Amino acid sequence: MITKKILIAMTGASGAPYTRRLLELLVDAHHQVYFIYSKAAQIVAKQELDWQLSDDLQSSKLFLTEIFQSSLENLTLVGIEDWFSCVASGSNMVDSMLICPCSMGTLSAIAHGLSDNLIERAADVVLKENKQLILVPREMPFSSIHLENMLKLSQIGAEIIPPIPGFYYQPKKIEDLIDFVVIRILKHLEVDIPDSPKWGR
Ligand SMILES: Cc1cc2nc3c(=O)[nH]c(=O)nc-3n(C[C@H](O)[C@H](O)[C@H](O)COP(=O)(O)O)c2cc1C
Repeated sequence: MITKKILIAMTGASGAPYTRRLLELLVDAHHQVYFIYSKAAQIVAKQELDWQLSDDLQSSKLFLTEIFQSSLENLTLVGIEDWFSCVASGSNMVDSMLICPCSMGTLSAIAHGLSDNLIERAADVVLKENKQLILVPREMPFSSIHLENMLKLSQIGAEIIPPIPGFYYQPKKIEDLIDFVVIRILKHLEVDIPDSPKWGR
């Protein structure tokens, strides 16, 4: 199996359960995963999952090893201002970057090339190097500003995958709805998860 180098960025939009499931599946499948989270993501992760993510990466990694009951050797935590990380430059690229969930603030910053923290900078690098950037934007409703920012990013090659589950699989529990979105994202990352449901005969 081909393993990929994937950067997962979590920002302060609602949707932390998606990030949890993606981390679980990608680490389990032995991909090399880099994980970065914004200050606001720490607050949302606490609110939605009771997760203890902080600026102290060592204690956050320890916390995640307990949550996932795994040594997480293939998971590297990256600080939001670690400008010396490989994801800060085009010389040592990841295969793909995924921002899940993506806040409207981060969406706007990337659409306007701000690069004010390492999530924004890494996305800027991925775009300039023509690598894969997937955004999972979450807000309701979207304003024209949000839609314009999404259009702008889509036009330069970013993939916009809003977390909108379909109901034709007849979901029975919240986990089914989460997996619907997560499996779509993994399909775009070209990561195969055995036994995942596929529509059609
Ligand atoms: C519990 C909670 C839920 C939030 N949900 C959203 C959301 O769904 N979408 C969004 O764009 N912002 C949401 N926000 C606001 C963002 O966290 C805020 O705009 C923040 O500045 C984003 O920063 P970041 O992009 O650096 O993570 C939420 C905040 C909190 C505390």
